[in-house]
Amino acid sequence: CGIVGYIGNNQARDILLKGLQKLEYRGYDSAGIALASDDGVELHKEKGRIASLEETVGNEGRGTTGIGHTRWATHGAPSRDNAHPHQSLSGRFTLVHNGVIENYQQLKRKYLSDVEMASETDTEIIVQLIESFTGEGETVDEAFRQALALLHGSYAIALIDNEDNETIYVGKNKSPLLVGVGEESSVVASDAMAMLHVTKEFMEIMDQEIVIVKKDSIQVKKLDGTAVERSTFTTDIDESDTEKGTYSHFMLKEIDEQPFVIRNIIQKYQDEDGDIKLDQDIRAALNDADRLYVIAAGTSYHAGLAGKELMEKVAEKPTEVHIASEFLYNEPLLSENPLFIFISQSGETADCRGVLVNVKEKGCQSLTITNVPGSTLTRESDFTLHTYAGPEIAVASTKAYTAQMAVFSILAMDGARAQGIHSDFNAISELGLIANAMETLCDQKERMEQVARDYMSGTRNCFFIGRAMDYHVVQEGALKLKEISYIQAEGFAGGELKHGTIALIEDGTPVVGVTTQQHVNANIRGNIQEVIARGANACIISTEATKEEGDTIVLPNINELLSPLVSVVPLQLISYYAALHRDCDVDKPRNLAKSVTVE
Ligand code: G6P
Repeated sequence: CGIVGYIGNNQARDILLKGLQKLEYRGYDSAGIALASDDGVELHKEKGRIASLEETVGNEGRGTTGIGHTRWATHGAPSRDNAHPHQSLSGRFTLVHNGVIENYQQLKRKYLSDVEMASETDTEIIVQLIESFTGEGETVDEAFRQALALLHGSYAIALIDNEDNETIYVGKNKSPLLVGVGEESSVVASDAMAMLHVTKEFMEIMDQEIVIVKKDSIQVKKLDGTAVERSTFTTDIDESDTEKGTYSHFMLKEIDEQPFVIRNIIQKYQDEDGDIKLDQDIRAALNDADRLYVIAAGTSYHAGLAGKELMEKVAEKPTEVHIASEFLYNEPLLSENPLFIFISQSGETADCRGVLVNVKEKGCQSLTITNVPGSTLTRESDFTLHTYAGPEIAVASTKAYTAQMAVFSILAMDGARAQGIHSDFNAISELGLIANAMETLCDQKERMEQVARDYMSGTRNCFFIGRAMDYHVVQEGALKLKEISYIQAEGFAGGELKHGTIALIEDGTPVVGVTTQQHVNANIRGNIQEVIARGANACIISTEATKEEGDTIVLPNINELLSPLVSVVPLQLISYYAALHRDCDVDKPRNLAKSVTVE
Protein backbone atom coordinates (compact mmCIF):
# COMPACT_ATOMS: atom_id res chain seq x y z
CA CYS A 1 0.00 0.00 0.00
CA GLY A 2 1.03 3.61 -0.32
CA ILE A 3 -0.03 6.80 1.42
CA VAL A 4 0.13 10.51 0.60
CA GLY A 5 -0.78 13.74 2.33
CA TYR A 6 -0.81 17.42 1.38
CA ILE A 7 -1.34 20.61 3.33
CA GLY A 8 -0.85 24.04 1.78
CA ASN A 9 -2.55 26.82 -0.16
CA ASN A 10 -3.59 24.81 -3.21
CA GLN A 11 -6.48 22.43 -3.64
CA ALA A 12 -5.27 19.05 -2.40
CA ARG A 13 -7.42 16.84 -4.63
CA ASP A 14 -5.34 16.74 -7.80
CA ILE A 15 -2.05 16.78 -5.93
CA LEU A 16 -3.12 13.71 -3.96
CA LEU A 17 -4.53 11.87 -6.97
CA LYS A 18 -1.33 12.44 -8.92
CA GLY A 19 0.68 11.26 -5.92
CA LEU A 20 -1.41 8.11 -5.63
CA GLN A 21 -0.91 7.36 -9.29
CA LYS A 22 2.85 7.40 -8.69
CA LEU A 23 2.34 5.00 -5.80
CA GLU A 24 0.16 2.55 -7.70
CA TYR A 25 3.18 0.26 -7.97
CA ARG A 26 2.68 -0.38 -4.24
CA GLY A 27 -0.82 -1.78 -4.74
CA TYR A 28 -3.88 -0.96 -6.78
CA ASP A 29 -6.93 -2.87 -5.67
CA SER A 30 -8.75 0.06 -4.06
CA ALA A 31 -8.02 3.69 -3.23
CA GLY A 32 -9.36 6.71 -1.46
CA ILE A 33 -8.78 10.31 -0.44
CA ALA A 34 -10.08 12.53 2.34
CA LEU A 35 -10.14 16.32 1.98
CA ALA A 36 -10.46 18.76 4.83
CA SER A 37 -11.82 22.28 4.51
CA ASP A 38 -13.74 24.68 6.76
CA ASP A 39 -16.88 22.74 5.81
CA GLY A 40 -15.53 19.50 7.31
CA VAL A 41 -14.00 16.36 5.86
CA GLU A 42 -15.07 14.83 2.54
CA LEU A 43 -14.35 11.16 1.92
CA HIS A 44 -14.04 9.51 -1.49
CA LYS A 45 -13.22 5.82 -1.93
CA GLU A 46 -13.41 3.34 -4.74
CA LYS A 47 -12.60 -0.27 -5.49
CA GLY A 48 -10.02 -0.68 -8.27
CA ARG A 49 -7.43 1.65 -9.74
CA ILE A 50 -6.75 5.33 -9.07
CA ALA A 51 -8.43 6.04 -12.41
CA SER A 52 -11.72 4.69 -10.96
CA LEU A 53 -11.28 6.83 -7.87
CA GLU A 54 -10.68 9.84 -10.08
CA GLU A 55 -13.95 9.18 -11.88
CA THR A 56 -15.78 8.86 -8.58
CA VAL A 57 -14.37 12.11 -7.26
CA GLY A 58 -15.18 13.88 -10.54
CA ASN A 59 -15.20 17.62 -10.06
CA GLU A 60 -16.05 17.37 -6.40
CA GLY A 61 -13.57 17.48 -3.60
CA ARG A 62 -12.54 20.79 -2.07
CA GLY A 63 -9.98 21.32 0.61
CA THR A 64 -6.38 22.42 0.92
CA THR A 65 -5.56 19.63 3.36
CA GLY A 66 -5.89 15.97 2.49
CA ILE A 67 -4.66 12.43 2.77
CA GLY A 68 -4.85 9.47 0.35
CA HIS A 69 -4.19 5.77 0.07
CA THR A 70 -3.76 3.08 -2.56
CA ARG A 71 -4.26 -0.42 -1.27
CA TRP A 72 -2.88 -3.92 -1.66
CA ALA A 73 -5.27 -5.98 0.45
CA THR A 74 -3.94 -7.88 3.45
CA HIS A 75 -6.84 -7.99 5.94
CA GLY A 76 -10.23 -7.91 4.23
CA ALA A 77 -11.04 -8.30 0.53
CA PRO A 78 -10.50 -5.42 -1.88
CA SER A 79 -13.79 -3.50 -1.60
CA ARG A 80 -15.04 0.03 -1.15
CA ASP A 81 -15.71 -0.57 2.56
CA ASN A 82 -12.25 -1.89 3.21
CA ALA A 83 -10.58 0.87 1.19
CA HIS A 84 -8.86 3.65 3.16
CA PRO A 85 -9.26 6.31 4.53
CA HIS A 86 -11.07 4.93 7.57
CA GLN A 87 -13.05 7.13 9.94
CA SER A 88 -13.75 7.04 13.64
CA LEU A 89 -17.31 6.43 14.83
CA SER A 90 -18.21 10.10 15.21
CA GLY A 91 -16.48 10.93 11.94
CA ARG A 92 -14.08 13.29 13.68
CA PHE A 93 -10.87 11.47 12.69
CA THR A 94 -9.89 10.15 9.28
CA LEU A 95 -6.82 7.98 8.74
CA VAL A 96 -4.78 6.15 6.10
CA HIS A 97 -2.37 3.33 6.93
CA ASN A 98 0.24 1.23 5.16
CA GLY A 99 1.35 -1.86 7.07
CA VAL A 100 -0.12 -4.55 9.27
CA ILE A 101 -1.26 -4.25 12.88
CA GLU A 102 -0.59 -7.65 14.37
CA ASN A 103 -2.39 -7.16 17.70
CA TYR A 104 -5.57 -5.51 16.44
CA GLN A 105 -7.83 -8.21 17.80
CA GLN A 106 -6.34 -7.94 21.29
CA LEU A 107 -6.61 -4.14 21.16
CA LYS A 108 -10.21 -4.36 20.05
CA ARG A 109 -11.07 -6.68 22.95
CA LYS A 110 -9.22 -4.59 25.51
CA TYR A 111 -10.15 -1.04 24.53
CA LEU A 112 -13.04 -1.12 22.10
CA SER A 113 -15.17 -4.16 22.92
CA ASP A 114 -18.36 -2.12 22.60
CA VAL A 115 -17.43 -0.41 19.33
CA GLU A 116 -18.95 -1.75 16.13
CA MET A 117 -16.35 -1.65 13.36
CA ALA A 118 -17.32 -0.45 9.91
CA SER A 119 -14.71 -2.49 8.02
CA GLU A 120 -12.81 -5.78 8.23
CA THR A 121 -9.42 -4.08 8.30
CA ASP A 122 -6.79 -4.04 11.01
CA THR A 123 -6.42 -0.32 10.31
CA GLU A 124 -9.74 0.84 11.63
CA ILE A 125 -8.68 -0.05 15.16
CA ILE A 126 -6.12 2.79 15.10
CA VAL A 127 -8.57 5.54 14.30
CA GLN A 128 -11.13 4.23 16.78
CA LEU A 129 -8.47 4.10 19.49
CA ILE A 130 -7.46 7.70 18.85
CA GLU A 131 -11.06 8.84 19.11
CA SER A 132 -11.55 6.85 22.28
CA PHE A 133 -8.45 8.41 23.89
CA THR A 134 -9.42 11.97 22.95
CA GLY A 135 -12.81 11.21 24.52
CA GLU A 136 -10.94 10.64 27.76
CA GLY A 137 -9.59 14.18 27.62
CA GLU A 138 -6.24 13.69 25.83
CA THR A 139 -5.13 16.19 23.19
CA VAL A 140 -4.97 14.79 19.66
CA ASP A 141 -1.19 14.78 19.80
CA GLU A 142 -1.24 12.77 23.04
CA ALA A 143 -3.99 10.43 21.88
CA PHE A 144 -2.14 9.80 18.63
CA ARG A 145 1.12 8.93 20.40
CA GLN A 146 -0.67 6.84 23.00
CA ALA A 147 -2.49 4.81 20.35
CA LEU A 148 0.67 4.28 18.31
CA ALA A 149 2.56 3.07 21.37
CA LEU A 150 0.04 0.23 21.69
CA LEU A 151 0.43 -1.04 18.14
CA HIS A 152 2.49 -4.11 17.29
CA GLY A 153 3.43 -4.41 13.66
CA SER A 154 4.21 -2.06 10.85
CA TYR A 155 2.66 1.24 9.97
CA ALA A 156 2.98 4.47 8.06
CA ILE A 157 -0.02 6.54 9.10
CA ALA A 158 -1.50 9.92 8.25
CA LEU A 159 -4.43 11.29 10.25
CA ILE A 160 -6.64 14.34 9.93
CA ASP A 161 -9.03 15.83 12.45
CA ASN A 162 -12.17 17.59 11.25
CA GLU A 163 -11.93 20.02 14.16
CA ASP A 164 -8.54 21.27 12.92
CA ASN A 165 -7.94 21.30 9.18
CA GLU A 166 -4.48 22.82 9.52
CA THR A 167 -2.66 19.72 10.75
CA ILE A 168 -1.80 16.24 9.50
CA TYR A 169 -0.56 13.79 12.13
CA VAL A 170 1.92 11.27 10.81
CA GLY A 171 3.48 8.19 12.41
CA LYS A 172 5.86 5.46 11.30
CA ASN A 173 7.12 2.06 12.29
CA LYS A 174 8.83 -0.29 9.80
CA SER A 175 6.81 0.96 6.80
CA PRO A 176 8.53 3.61 4.68
CA LEU A 177 7.52 7.25 5.08
CA LEU A 178 8.85 10.66 4.15
CA VAL A 179 7.67 14.17 4.91
CA GLY A 180 8.38 16.81 2.26
CA VAL A 181 8.83 20.55 2.53
CA GLY A 182 7.35 22.63 -0.29
CA GLU A 183 6.69 26.29 -0.79
CA GLU A 184 4.10 27.19 1.84
CA SER A 185 3.11 23.56 1.82
CA SER A 186 4.10 20.24 3.30
CA VAL A 187 3.59 16.73 1.99
CA VAL A 188 3.62 13.18 3.25
CA ALA A 189 4.44 10.15 1.09
CA SER A 190 5.48 6.51 1.20
CA ASP A 191 7.99 7.31 -1.54
CA ALA A 192 9.53 10.62 -2.67
CA MET A 193 8.44 9.79 -6.22
CA ALA A 194 4.83 10.47 -5.24
CA MET A 195 5.36 14.12 -4.41
CA LEU A 196 8.02 15.33 -6.86
CA HIS A 197 5.33 17.55 -8.40
CA VAL A 198 5.30 19.52 -5.14
CA THR A 199 8.86 19.34 -3.84
CA LYS A 200 12.25 17.64 -4.01
CA GLU A 201 13.10 18.41 -0.41
CA PHE A 202 12.28 15.64 2.04
CA MET A 203 12.84 14.58 5.59
CA GLU A 204 13.32 10.99 6.70
CA ILE A 205 11.13 9.75 9.51
CA MET A 206 12.44 6.99 11.76
CA ASP A 207 10.60 4.13 13.40
CA GLN A 208 8.48 5.06 16.39
CA GLU A 209 8.44 8.74 15.56
CA ILE A 210 5.45 10.94 14.92
CA VAL A 211 5.31 14.18 12.97
CA ILE A 212 2.94 17.09 13.33
CA VAL A 213 2.73 18.47 9.83
CA LYS A 214 1.45 21.97 9.10
CA LYS A 215 1.80 23.97 5.91
CA ASP A 216 4.66 26.02 7.33
CA SER A 217 6.13 23.78 10.02
CA ILE A 218 7.15 20.20 10.64
CA GLN A 219 7.62 18.92 14.15
CA VAL A 220 9.13 15.48 14.77
CA LYS A 221 8.64 13.77 18.13
CA LYS A 222 9.29 10.42 19.72
CA LEU A 223 6.34 8.45 20.99
CA ASP A 224 7.05 9.74 24.51
CA GLY A 225 6.69 13.32 23.27
CA THR A 226 10.41 14.30 23.23
CA ALA A 227 11.20 16.63 20.34
CA VAL A 228 13.59 15.39 17.62
CA GLU A 229 15.75 17.60 15.38
CA ARG A 230 15.91 16.41 11.78
CA SER A 231 17.33 18.07 8.69
CA THR A 232 16.03 17.69 5.15
CA PHE A 233 17.70 16.27 2.02
CA THR A 234 17.13 16.92 -1.66
CA THR A 235 16.30 13.88 -3.74
CA ASP A 236 18.09 13.49 -7.07
CA ILE A 237 15.17 11.68 -8.73
CA ASP A 238 13.83 13.69 -11.61
CA GLU A 239 10.12 13.82 -12.23
CA SER A 240 10.75 12.79 -15.85
CA ASP A 241 12.38 9.55 -14.61
CA THR A 242 8.99 8.54 -13.33
CA GLU A 243 7.11 9.18 -16.60
CA LYS A 244 6.63 6.78 -19.52
CA GLY A 245 7.58 9.31 -22.19
CA THR A 246 6.80 7.91 -25.63
CA TYR A 247 6.59 4.31 -24.45
CA SER A 248 3.29 2.52 -24.16
CA HIS A 249 4.41 0.79 -20.98
CA PHE A 250 6.97 1.33 -18.25
CA MET A 251 8.06 -2.29 -18.64
CA LEU A 252 9.14 -1.78 -22.24
CA LYS A 253 10.90 1.47 -21.33
CA GLU A 254 12.73 -0.24 -18.51
CA ILE A 255 13.78 -3.19 -20.68
CA ASP A 256 15.19 -0.70 -23.17
CA GLU A 257 17.03 1.20 -20.45
CA GLN A 258 19.15 -1.82 -19.51
CA PRO A 259 22.20 -1.08 -21.69
CA PHE A 260 22.27 2.45 -20.29
CA VAL A 261 21.94 1.17 -16.73
CA ILE A 262 24.85 -1.25 -17.18
CA ARG A 263 27.03 1.54 -18.58
CA ASN A 264 26.00 3.73 -15.70
CA ILE A 265 27.05 1.04 -13.23
CA ILE A 266 30.44 0.73 -14.93
CA GLN A 267 30.93 4.45 -14.55
CA LYS A 268 29.81 4.64 -10.95
CA TYR A 269 32.02 1.81 -9.77
CA GLN A 270 35.17 2.84 -11.60
CA ASP A 271 37.82 5.33 -10.52
CA GLU A 272 39.83 7.63 -12.84
CA ASP A 273 42.31 4.84 -13.57
CA GLY A 274 39.59 2.46 -14.68
CA ASP A 275 39.92 0.42 -11.49
CA ILE A 276 37.01 -0.76 -9.42
CA LYS A 277 36.33 1.47 -6.45
CA LEU A 278 34.51 -0.14 -3.58
CA ASP A 279 34.29 1.04 -0.03
CA GLN A 280 37.22 -0.33 2.00
CA ASP A 281 34.85 -1.48 4.72
CA ILE A 282 32.85 -3.58 2.28
CA ARG A 283 36.05 -5.13 1.00
CA ALA A 284 37.15 -5.93 4.55
CA ALA A 285 33.76 -7.40 5.47
CA LEU A 286 33.83 -9.63 2.42
CA ASN A 287 37.38 -10.67 3.15
CA ASP A 288 36.62 -11.54 6.75
CA ALA A 289 33.49 -13.55 6.00
CA ASP A 290 33.81 -17.30 5.85
CA ARG A 291 30.43 -17.67 4.08
CA LEU A 292 27.98 -15.38 2.33
CA TYR A 293 24.23 -15.63 2.85
CA VAL A 294 22.28 -13.97 0.09
CA ILE A 295 18.70 -13.12 1.10
CA ALA A 296 16.04 -11.89 -1.29
CA ALA A 297 12.53 -12.33 -2.71
CA GLY A 298 11.01 -12.66 -6.18
CA THR A 299 13.13 -11.47 -9.06
CA SER A 300 15.86 -10.28 -6.70
CA TYR A 301 16.14 -13.87 -5.45
CA HIS A 302 16.79 -14.95 -9.02
CA ALA A 303 19.54 -12.34 -9.30
CA GLY A 304 20.95 -13.80 -6.09
CA LEU A 305 21.16 -17.25 -7.68
CA ALA A 306 23.39 -15.84 -10.40
CA GLY A 307 25.25 -13.76 -7.82
CA LYS A 308 26.17 -16.87 -5.89
CA GLU A 309 27.91 -18.31 -8.94
CA LEU A 310 29.92 -15.13 -9.33
CA MET A 311 30.91 -15.02 -5.69
CA GLU A 312 31.96 -18.68 -5.69
CA LYS A 313 33.59 -18.91 -9.11
CA VAL A 314 35.34 -15.54 -9.17
CA ALA A 315 35.86 -14.64 -5.51
CA GLU A 316 35.98 -18.22 -4.19
CA LYS A 317 33.59 -17.39 -1.36
CA PRO A 318 31.17 -20.13 -0.32
CA THR A 319 27.71 -18.64 -0.84
CA GLU A 320 24.16 -19.70 -0.04
CA VAL A 321 21.06 -18.07 -1.47
CA HIS A 322 17.83 -18.05 0.51
CA ILE A 323 14.27 -16.92 -0.03
CA ALA A 324 13.80 -14.25 2.64
CA SER A 325 10.40 -15.44 3.88
CA GLU A 326 11.75 -18.99 4.34
CA PHE A 327 14.95 -17.96 6.06
CA LEU A 328 12.94 -15.84 8.45
CA TYR A 329 11.23 -18.76 10.18
CA ASN A 330 13.47 -21.66 9.23
CA GLU A 331 17.03 -20.53 9.65
CA PRO A 332 19.81 -22.82 8.43
CA LEU A 333 22.92 -23.53 10.42
CA LEU A 334 25.13 -20.45 10.16
CA SER A 335 28.88 -20.41 9.67
CA GLU A 336 31.16 -18.83 12.23
CA ASN A 337 31.61 -15.53 10.49
CA PRO A 338 28.85 -14.93 7.98
CA LEU A 339 28.22 -11.85 5.87
CA PHE A 340 24.60 -11.29 4.87
CA ILE A 341 23.87 -9.81 1.47
CA PHE A 342 20.34 -8.50 0.99
CA ILE A 343 19.21 -7.90 -2.56
CA SER A 344 16.16 -5.75 -2.97
CA GLN A 345 15.13 -3.37 -5.72
CA SER A 346 12.96 -1.37 -3.32
CA GLY A 347 15.00 -1.89 -0.17
CA GLU A 348 11.67 -2.25 1.62
CA THR A 349 10.61 -5.90 1.29
CA ALA A 350 9.32 -6.86 4.73
CA ASP A 351 10.54 -10.47 4.49
CA CYS A 352 14.12 -9.24 3.94
CA ARG A 353 13.84 -6.71 6.70
CA GLY A 354 12.66 -9.40 9.09
CA VAL A 355 15.81 -11.41 8.39
CA LEU A 356 18.00 -8.33 8.74
CA VAL A 357 16.58 -7.54 12.18
CA ASN A 358 17.24 -11.12 13.32
CA VAL A 359 20.79 -11.39 12.03
CA LYS A 360 21.71 -7.98 13.41
CA GLU A 361 20.66 -9.22 16.81
CA LYS A 362 23.15 -12.03 16.38
CA GLY A 363 25.83 -9.47 15.60
CA CYS A 364 26.25 -10.45 11.93
CA GLN A 365 27.39 -7.94 9.34
CA SER A 366 25.13 -7.03 6.45
CA LEU A 367 25.34 -5.50 3.01
CA THR A 368 22.34 -4.38 0.97
CA ILE A 369 22.33 -4.23 -2.82
CA THR A 370 19.44 -1.95 -3.74
CA ASN A 371 18.04 0.52 -6.19
CA VAL A 372 16.70 2.87 -3.54
CA PRO A 373 19.30 4.58 -1.38
CA GLY A 374 17.78 5.75 1.88
CA SER A 375 15.37 2.81 1.94
CA THR A 376 14.78 0.82 5.10
CA LEU A 377 17.29 -1.92 4.27
CA THR A 378 20.04 0.59 3.46
CA ARG A 379 19.44 2.46 6.67
CA GLU A 380 19.55 -0.65 8.77
CA SER A 381 22.32 -2.69 7.21
CA ASP A 382 26.03 -1.98 7.68
CA PHE A 383 26.86 -1.37 4.02
CA THR A 384 25.06 -0.53 0.81
CA LEU A 385 25.83 -1.00 -2.86
CA HIS A 386 23.59 1.02 -5.15
CA THR A 387 22.36 -0.46 -8.43
CA TYR A 388 21.88 2.95 -10.12
CA ALA A 389 19.05 1.68 -12.32
CA GLY A 390 16.80 4.72 -11.83
CA PRO A 391 13.19 4.36 -10.65
CA GLU A 392 11.67 1.04 -11.72
CA ILE A 393 7.93 1.49 -12.01
CA ALA A 394 6.55 -1.57 -13.83
CA VAL A 395 5.61 -4.18 -11.26
CA ALA A 396 7.50 -6.86 -13.19
CA SER A 397 11.16 -6.19 -12.48
CA THR A 398 13.56 -6.03 -15.44
CA LYS A 399 16.37 -3.48 -15.25
CA ALA A 400 16.72 -3.93 -11.48
CA TYR A 401 17.47 -7.64 -12.03
CA THR A 402 20.25 -7.08 -14.54
CA ALA A 403 21.63 -4.19 -12.48
CA GLN A 404 21.77 -6.38 -9.37
CA MET A 405 23.77 -9.03 -11.22
CA ALA A 406 26.08 -6.39 -12.67
CA VAL A 407 26.82 -5.08 -9.18
CA PHE A 408 27.45 -8.64 -8.01
CA SER A 409 30.01 -9.08 -10.78
CA ILE A 410 31.85 -6.00 -9.52
CA LEU A 411 31.72 -7.21 -5.95
CA ALA A 412 33.01 -10.64 -7.01
CA MET A 413 35.90 -9.16 -8.98
CA ASP A 414 36.83 -6.87 -6.12
CA GLY A 415 36.56 -9.79 -3.70
CA ALA A 416 38.94 -11.86 -5.81
CA ARG A 417 41.47 -9.05 -5.99
CA ALA A 418 41.31 -8.32 -2.29
CA GLN A 419 42.14 -11.95 -1.56
CA GLY A 420 44.92 -12.06 -4.10
CA ILE A 421 43.08 -14.63 -6.21
CA HIS A 422 44.28 -14.64 -9.77
CA SER A 423 41.34 -14.34 -12.14
CA ASP A 424 40.99 -13.31 -15.77
CA PHE A 425 37.51 -12.09 -15.02
CA ASN A 426 37.29 -8.37 -15.64
CA ALA A 427 33.81 -7.20 -14.70
CA ILE A 428 34.26 -3.75 -16.18
CA SER A 429 35.18 -4.86 -19.68
CA GLU A 430 32.68 -7.75 -19.63
CA LEU A 431 29.87 -5.40 -18.63
CA GLY A 432 30.76 -3.12 -21.52
CA LEU A 433 30.29 -6.02 -23.94
CA ILE A 434 27.07 -6.97 -22.21
CA ALA A 435 25.61 -3.49 -22.64
CA ASN A 436 26.30 -3.76 -26.38
CA ALA A 437 24.75 -7.23 -26.60
CA MET A 438 21.65 -6.02 -24.72
CA GLU A 439 21.31 -3.17 -27.19
CA THR A 440 21.41 -5.57 -30.15
CA LEU A 441 18.59 -7.57 -28.59
CA CYS A 442 16.50 -4.54 -27.66
CA ASP A 443 16.66 -3.59 -31.33
CA GLN A 444 14.99 -6.87 -32.31
CA LYS A 445 11.55 -6.20 -30.89
CA GLU A 446 9.66 -7.28 -34.00
CA ARG A 447 11.42 -10.61 -33.94
CA MET A 448 10.64 -11.07 -30.22
CA GLU A 449 7.01 -10.19 -30.83
CA GLN A 450 6.86 -12.83 -33.54
CA VAL A 451 8.40 -15.42 -31.19
CA ALA A 452 5.73 -14.55 -28.61
CA ARG A 453 3.07 -15.11 -31.28
CA ASP A 454 4.60 -18.38 -32.48
CA TYR A 455 5.00 -19.96 -29.08
CA MET A 456 2.71 -18.32 -26.56
CA SER A 457 -0.54 -17.71 -28.48
CA GLY A 458 -3.43 -19.50 -26.83
CA THR A 459 -1.22 -21.66 -24.61
CA ARG A 460 -2.30 -22.50 -21.09
CA ASN A 461 1.18 -23.29 -19.83
CA CYS A 462 4.82 -23.00 -20.77
CA PHE A 463 8.01 -24.56 -19.44
CA PHE A 464 11.49 -23.11 -19.38
CA ILE A 465 14.59 -25.26 -19.07
CA GLY A 466 18.28 -24.57 -18.70
CA ARG A 467 21.39 -25.84 -16.97
CA ALA A 468 23.99 -24.03 -14.82
CA MET A 469 23.63 -20.24 -15.29
CA ASP A 470 20.77 -20.93 -17.68
CA TYR A 471 18.84 -22.69 -14.93
CA HIS A 472 18.90 -19.46 -12.96
CA VAL A 473 17.75 -17.32 -15.85
CA VAL A 474 14.92 -19.66 -16.87
CA GLN A 475 13.43 -19.33 -13.40
CA GLU A 476 13.33 -15.59 -13.96
CA GLY A 477 11.98 -16.05 -17.50
CA ALA A 478 9.13 -18.19 -16.16
CA LEU A 479 8.35 -15.70 -13.40
CA LYS A 480 8.21 -12.83 -15.91
CA LEU A 481 5.83 -14.72 -18.17
CA LYS A 482 3.47 -15.86 -15.43
CA GLU A 483 3.29 -12.59 -13.57
CA ILE A 484 2.28 -10.46 -16.50
CA SER A 485 0.54 -12.82 -18.96
CA TYR A 486 -1.00 -15.27 -16.44
CA ILE A 487 0.25 -18.20 -18.52
CA GLN A 488 1.21 -20.90 -16.06
CA ALA A 489 4.98 -21.05 -16.40
CA GLU A 490 7.77 -22.86 -14.56
CA GLY A 491 11.53 -22.83 -14.91
CA PHE A 492 13.34 -26.13 -14.43
CA ALA A 493 16.83 -27.49 -14.34
CA GLY A 494 17.18 -29.17 -17.74
CA GLY A 495 17.80 -32.62 -16.31
CA GLU A 496 14.95 -32.41 -13.83
CA LEU A 497 11.94 -32.00 -16.10
CA LYS A 498 11.95 -35.68 -16.96
CA HIS A 499 11.62 -36.60 -13.29
CA GLY A 500 7.97 -35.67 -13.17
CA THR A 501 6.96 -32.51 -14.94
CA ILE A 502 7.46 -33.97 -18.40
CA ALA A 503 4.08 -35.66 -17.76
CA LEU A 504 2.52 -32.27 -18.50
CA ILE A 505 3.99 -31.96 -21.98
CA GLU A 506 1.33 -32.32 -24.65
CA ASP A 507 1.21 -31.67 -28.35
CA GLY A 508 2.17 -28.05 -28.85
CA THR A 509 3.19 -27.23 -25.25
CA PRO A 510 5.80 -24.50 -25.52
CA VAL A 511 9.17 -25.27 -23.93
CA VAL A 512 11.78 -22.53 -23.95
CA GLY A 513 15.28 -24.00 -23.75
CA VAL A 514 18.15 -21.63 -22.99
CA THR A 515 21.65 -22.83 -23.83
CA THR A 516 24.51 -20.40 -23.34
CA GLN A 517 26.89 -22.71 -21.43
CA GLN A 518 29.20 -24.66 -23.67
CA HIS A 519 29.99 -27.41 -21.17
CA VAL A 520 26.34 -28.42 -20.91
CA ASN A 521 25.21 -27.55 -24.42
CA ALA A 522 24.99 -31.20 -25.46
CA ASN A 523 23.12 -32.14 -22.28
CA ILE A 524 20.46 -29.46 -22.54
CA ARG A 525 19.99 -30.19 -26.21
CA GLY A 526 19.34 -33.80 -25.18
CA ASN A 527 16.67 -32.57 -22.76
CA ILE A 528 15.13 -30.43 -25.48
CA GLN A 529 14.95 -33.48 -27.76
CA GLU A 530 13.16 -35.39 -24.99
CA VAL A 531 10.36 -32.81 -24.86
CA ILE A 532 10.20 -32.45 -28.63
CA ALA A 533 9.70 -36.24 -28.83
CA ARG A 534 6.62 -35.77 -26.67
CA GLY A 535 5.13 -33.05 -28.84
CA ALA A 536 6.61 -29.88 -27.31
CA ASN A 537 6.96 -26.73 -29.38
CA ALA A 538 10.58 -25.92 -28.54
CA CYS A 539 11.90 -22.36 -28.60
CA ILE A 540 15.69 -22.50 -28.37
CA ILE A 541 17.81 -19.56 -27.28
CA SER A 542 21.55 -20.10 -27.82
CA THR A 543 24.68 -18.03 -28.42
CA GLU A 544 27.08 -17.76 -31.34
CA ALA A 545 29.22 -20.28 -29.46
CA THR A 546 26.49 -22.85 -28.76
CA LYS A 547 24.15 -22.38 -31.72
CA GLU A 548 22.81 -25.08 -34.01
CA GLU A 549 20.80 -24.74 -37.14
CA GLY A 550 17.17 -23.95 -36.50
CA ASP A 551 17.64 -22.23 -33.12
CA THR A 552 14.99 -19.57 -32.51
CA ILE A 553 17.16 -16.76 -31.14
CA VAL A 554 20.96 -16.58 -31.24
CA LEU A 555 22.60 -14.21 -28.75
CA PRO A 556 25.95 -12.53 -29.26
CA ASN A 557 28.82 -14.30 -27.47
CA ILE A 558 29.20 -13.23 -23.87
CA ASN A 559 31.10 -14.31 -20.80
CA GLU A 560 29.25 -17.43 -19.70
CA LEU A 561 29.19 -16.40 -16.05
CA LEU A 562 27.31 -13.24 -16.98
CA SER A 563 25.04 -14.78 -19.59
CA PRO A 564 21.78 -14.17 -17.62
CA LEU A 565 22.24 -10.43 -18.08
CA VAL A 566 21.84 -10.93 -21.81
CA SER A 567 19.73 -14.07 -22.15
CA VAL A 568 17.06 -12.53 -19.93
CA VAL A 569 16.43 -9.73 -22.45
CA PRO A 570 14.61 -11.91 -25.02
CA LEU A 571 12.76 -13.64 -22.16
CA GLN A 572 11.58 -10.26 -20.88
CA LEU A 573 10.52 -9.13 -24.34
CA ILE A 574 8.71 -12.38 -25.15
CA SER A 575 6.79 -12.11 -21.86
CA TYR A 576 5.96 -8.50 -22.59
CA TYR A 577 4.51 -9.28 -26.01
CA ALA A 578 2.73 -12.42 -24.80
CA ALA A 579 1.00 -10.30 -22.15
CA LEU A 580 0.22 -7.57 -24.66
CA HIS A 581 -1.35 -10.07 -27.08
CA ARG A 582 -3.59 -11.25 -24.26
CA ASP A 583 -4.66 -7.70 -23.45
CA CYS A 584 -3.17 -7.96 -19.98
CA ASP A 585 -2.33 -4.89 -17.95
CA VAL A 586 1.43 -5.24 -18.41
CA ASP A 587 2.58 -2.66 -15.88
CA LYS A 588 0.06 -3.55 -13.20
CA PRO A 589 -0.65 -7.27 -13.22
CA ARG A 590 -3.54 -8.53 -11.12
CA ASN A 591 -3.03 -9.31 -7.42
CA LEU A 592 0.58 -8.09 -7.36
CA ALA A 593 2.39 -5.12 -5.88
CA LYS A 594 5.88 -3.95 -6.61
CA SER A 595 6.95 -3.28 -3.11
CA VAL A 596 5.65 -5.72 -0.53
CA THR A 597 6.03 -4.14 2.87
CA VAL A 598 4.11 -6.86 4.71
CA GLU A 599 5.38 -10.34 5.58
C1 G6P B 1 7.43 -8.10 -5.32
C2 G6P B 1 7.53 -7.68 -6.77
C3 G6P B 1 8.65 -8.44 -7.47
C4 G6P B 1 9.96 -8.28 -6.69
C5 G6P B 1 9.80 -8.73 -5.24
C6 G6P B 1 11.01 -8.38 -4.41
O1 G6P B 1 6.90 -9.38 -5.24
O2 G6P B 1 6.31 -7.88 -7.44
O3 G6P B 1 8.82 -7.92 -8.77
O4 G6P B 1 10.95 -9.01 -7.31
O5 G6P B 1 8.69 -8.06 -4.65
O6 G6P B 1 11.13 -6.99 -4.31
P1 G6P B 1 12.45 -6.21 -3.96
O7 G6P B 1 12.07 -4.77 -3.96
O8 G6P B 1 12.85 -6.69 -2.59
O9 G6P B 1 13.47 -6.55 -4.96
